[in-house]
Amino acid sequence: MTIAEFQEKGEAALKACLLEVDAVSNLDDLNVFKGRHLGKKSALTGFYQMMRSVDPAERKEFGILLSRLKDKIEAVYAKKASEIEAKLLSEKMARKKVDITLPGFYPLAGAIHPYQKVVREITDFFVGLGFDIADGPEVESDENNFAKMNIPMDHPARDMQDSFSIAEGVVLRSHTSAVQARVMAAMKGKAPIKVICPGKVYRRDNDATHSHQFGQIEGLVISRDATFANLIEILTKLLRHLFGEKRAVRFRPSFFPFTEPSIEADISCFECDGKGCSFCKHTGWIEILGAGMVHPNVLRLNGYDAEELQGFAFGLGIDRIAMLKYGIDDIKRLYADEADFLAQFRKE
Ligand code: DAH
Repeated sequence: MTIAEFQEKGEAALKACLLEVDAVSNLDDLNVFKGRHLGKKSALTGFYQMMRSVDPAERKEFGILLSRLKDKIEAVYAKKASEIEAKLLSEKMARKKVDITLPGFYPLAGAIHPYQKVVREITDFFVGLGFDIADGPEVESDENNFAKMNIPMDHPARDMQDSFSIAEGVVLRSHTSAVQARVMAAMKGKAPIKVICPGKVYRRDNDATHSHQFGQIEGLVISRDATFANLIEILTKLLRHLFGEKRAVRFRPSFFPFTEPSIEADISCFECDGKGCSFCKHTGWIEILGAGMVHPNVLRLNGYDAEELQGFAFGLGIDRIAMLKYGIDDIKRLYADEADFLAQFRKE
């Protein structure tokens, strides 16, 4: 092919390309167009294949003219391609109109469970006083749950806690006091001990305020000089921390096999401020926890020198405190998966 021939044919190819491009209006057309003018069977590719038959003297110029032609055809294609893309995008935008007045989507935020809030509040309080946190298993030996807590076999005090028996000598622990025995065993007669033990306990109980499973936090302090006055001070501070600084706190004598003397702590009713109402059964007081000075038998049974050392202990119910604090009417709500109930605790 000569340069003159090429110029003529090249013009014709470009012309055809320009003529056809106007009809291209979608992606399919565009692909066909590309094949026809830039593909293997296009005139352009044909010119490249003819390169060999060009007189070597003219080959360089031929090459330059050919690549110019290629640039032009490619430019026609590229311009059309971007027009079509822009058209498709604006069609898509028109279809997907955003209504900015619609309410947005909020991810559903979780909340700290009221039971867990109480655990955190109480553990924070005691960690602040330098207490350690101890743990024990929920399946516990009869020995730790009862015998080591000064509740011998056949003693009527066992009736205070109707426990679930798992096997001979094994129960679901009926109170976190069992962890006292574990802590003392681990400390091997050494003092001081200053621990709290939060955890689940089990009893054969079932009504609006009692469940077969609930939570307790046990406290145990053993040292040379842990006094009853220290116990009263700590419990008073704890109860005011939990229920408000205005609450009056009252201690009554009570009985627990593992403490002597034993007490129970009440706070003035926060519904009627102590005047008496149906909430406090017209007593003006709400019972919160049990406590006392560690019974010398408990010290001895757990390898401690009851002449040298003394201590105090206390135990409180997590669920009961959560129910009182947040006005929860049925303990089962703490264990049910009620999203609406739990949502109330989101903001606090
Ligand atoms: N273990 C008792 C119960 O579950 C609660 C308790 C009372 C624990 C007095 C104590 C205590 O450590 O001193 O009813």
